[in-house]
Amino acid sequence: MSVLAILGGQWGDEGKGKVIDWLASQADVVARYQGGANAGHTVVVDGNQYILHLIPTGILHGGVKCIIGSGVVVDPLALVEEIEYLRSVGIEIGENLVLGKRAHLIMPYHKVLDSHMEELLGINRIGTTGRGIGPAYSDKAARLGVRISDLFDEKILTERIRVSLAIKKRLLGDIELSENEAQALDEAHVLDVCSQVRKTLGPHVRNTDAEINDALNGNKKILLEGAQGILLDLDMGTYPYVTSSNTGVGGAMSGLGLPYRRLNTVFGIMKAYCTRVGQGPFPSEMGEVEAGLLREEGGEFGATTGRPRRCGWFDAVAARHCIQVAGMDAIAVTKLDVLDNQETIRVCVGYEFEGERVTIFPAETSILEQCKPVYTEFPGWMSSTGGVRDYDALPPRAKDYIRGLEELTDRPVWLISTGPSRDDTICIHNPFDGDGMRGN
Ligand code: IMP
Repeated sequence: MSVLAILGGQWGDEGKGKVIDWLASQADVVARYQGGANAGHTVVVDGNQYILHLIPTGILHGGVKCIIGSGVVVDPLALVEEIEYLRSVGIEIGENLVLGKRAHLIMPYHKVLDSHMEELLGINRIGTTGRGIGPAYSDKAARLGVRISDLFDEKILTERIRVSLAIKKRLLGDIELSENEAQALDEAHVLDVCSQVRKTLGPHVRNTDAEINDALNGNKKILLEGAQGILLDLDMGTYPYVTSSNTGVGGAMSGLGLPYRRLNTVFGIMKAYCTRVGQGPFPSEMGEVEAGLLREEGGEFGATTGRPRRCGWFDAVAARHCIQVAGMDAIAVTKLDVLDNQETIRVCVGYEFEGERVTIFPAETSILEQCKPVYTEFPGWMSSTGGVRDYDALPPRAKDYIRGLEELTDRPVWLISTGPSRDDTICIHNPFDGDGMRGN
């Protein structure tokens, strides 16, 4: 078995970074396929915390090739900063980092558009991370994007930026821009940003579809690193409160040029409860007092923006939707220890809408917004599971909770995370062992 996809099974922030880091020691290649520096993967190794935004988590393991694939939108300044930060803390970045020629660039003007779009949306704003993700993907779809390969052809680069900027200026019309924003729309400034990053990024730029193909032919173990989660997927998520990429398997196939038959296992990562950042429906959201306690307990603040995350109970309806549309074979349950002090743990098993019971995740965001959660309750274990590494050492009630999640999601739990450190992991079944595809 060689290709394992790691996807978020909620609204992002499920702890994918920790799980990918744990699995990366067994991988030859770790590849990001969508999203950009809106992601924040937090990994703790030997007491040191690393937050990665663009570079695949495998970079913390020597000898693992890390690919930033064609479907990613790359903020070049953020990438250079991340490379410099990792080098400064002793992480080797050389041949092991590969940046796709086809990947699109997030330009300074995309961030200006992101913030003004949010402002114009007013109460309908999405609550984006402000990293220019939506405008960069919009440009890609509108064929106005600038790609990594363009960085190395000055004539083409200048032309693409000129055309794109002319349209942006028309779109922004008479909106008043700050000095910094005006600079972000200045052709010379944008070209200057491009020339600043060329030297650092140049040695890493390669054809990543060819790299993936070579890895497949060489029977290498490939880990696909999803960012965000299925509920933020552009098609399958809670539109319009989503990110602008396909966070699931489809995104991985198209974002890396990976033939679908080569995918062996889809592993969904879900927190033992739910969180969400930004606007949008969240049926199992807790009241502010309860959420506040859980937020502190779980350190639920955005790794990219520092925003407090909204907190709620595990939502089995949403989980089943993610499992179904992404074809998840099994799941990891992360942050189990965060529930250690809960006397009673609730799980949302259905919704109520206009007096009717709903068990299918609604496509209409307006309906989802009105859905009331129907809960089942599990007694809390009220003892520490922090750092437990052996399933049998879990308190019986924690095991009951895990079994309950397995029943409600109809998927086996293969990994349980009991703390931020790499080793605070219970492995029930190694996702790299054996083929997980069951024809879902
Ligand atoms: P964007 O991806 O910055 O356009 O933001 C769109 C929505 O996705 C907002 O609600 C963000 O808070 C959310 N989002 C984007 N990236 C992440 C992430 O890595 N974790 C959690 N939420 C995210």
